[in-house]
Amino acid sequence: MFFSLSQKLMFQLDPELAHEMAISFFKNTANTPLACAYAQQIIDKPVNVMGIDFKNPVGLAAGLDKNGDCIDAFDAMGFGFVEIGTVTPRAQGGNDKPRIFRLKEQQAIINRMGFNNKGVDYLIERVKARKSTGILGINIGKNFDTPVEQGKDDYLLAMDKVYQHASYITVNISSPNTPGLRSLQYGDALDDLLKSLKEKQAVLASLHQKTVPLLLKIAPDLTEQEVVQISDSLVRHQVDGVIATNTTLSREGVENSSYSDQAGGLSGRPVALKSTQVVKILSKELAGRCPIIGVGGIDSVQEAQNKFDAGASLVQVYTGFIYQGPQLIKKIVLAR
Ligand SMILES: Cc1cc2nc3c(=O)[nH]c(=O)nc-3n(C[C@H](O)[C@H](O)[C@H](O)COP(=O)(O)O)c2cc1C
Repeated sequence: MFFSLSQKLMFQLDPELAHEMAISFFKNTANTPLACAYAQQIIDKPVNVMGIDFKNPVGLAAGLDKNGDCIDAFDAMGFGFVEIGTVTPRAQGGNDKPRIFRLKEQQAIINRMGFNNKGVDYLIERVKARKSTGILGINIGKNFDTPVEQGKDDYLLAMDKVYQHASYITVNISSPNTPGLRSLQYGDALDDLLKSLKEKQAVLASLHQKTVPLLLKIAPDLTEQEVVQISDSLVRHQVDGVIATNTTLSREGVENSSYSDQAGGLSGRPVALKSTQVVKILSKELAGRCPIIGVGGIDSVQEAQNKFDAGASLVQVYTGFIYQGPQLIKKIVLAR
């Protein structure tokens, strides 16, 4: 009731303004009586993945809470895990506005935010201030003005800082909105990055006396052969998990929208099948050696089931959550 009413109002507003208002509302109402507007009890459907106990397999995907401002609010909604970020070592403003577009008819979004965030130090303060104790993923990226050849240094720096505060760390090399970033998904560049990150993980594990799983987030715009090559690298470097997928550059399914020629990544219903196909290939290649988190176009129990059937152990939602609200989490969890 509260969600459908507030959604109607929010959808009258510019998408980024609506987003900022929602973030501010969640940030200021978490742990207060007003949190009853979105808090919900969901029965536990525990699952252990990467050695972590999740209370249920439905998580919030990265990008909605880039700075970790609303961890307690999202926890109160019943998510089994919350992924914050993408955070970069230094604060940055992102691309020029407008940079996010609602494609309501297609239940989709196009965004070219460009990793707008307040930097890793701010995010860590927010994590320290949270009251909830749920599973927290921290998604890291490189700054826009760091040359891609030095991108690895940004990941190592961010990893160093977030390590002791995260349940798991996601290495995002799949955003289409940071020029050159996706080139890190291929060949020697990927191997070099994974090697360095795993070495760093070993050092930090011994320093902090805990191993924090490291996950790679990949794009849906990869050929089967490229997904096979990535799978091979994941296994060789013993990466702890993979998140498939980020947004797509394809405009299949949204050709009729007036926003279809806006630059950026497309998310929501039109990316569902593409993401599921990537999960399927990964699952076949990885054969249980590296768990998969499925994300992309999940807006119903059936779409979540498609990801599980394809081989995902956990799922995440973003665009479906914008259109459906917290009820979506409950529906998927109850159907498990
Ligand atoms: C506005 C917006 C911003 C996003 N920002 C990020 C981000 O910062 N880091 C990231 O890894 N993914 C980001 N994503 C991608 C989502 O996490 C997710 O992988 C993708 O949207 C597919 O899932 P969906 O169809 O449920 O939205 C963003 C998506 C949207 C719509």
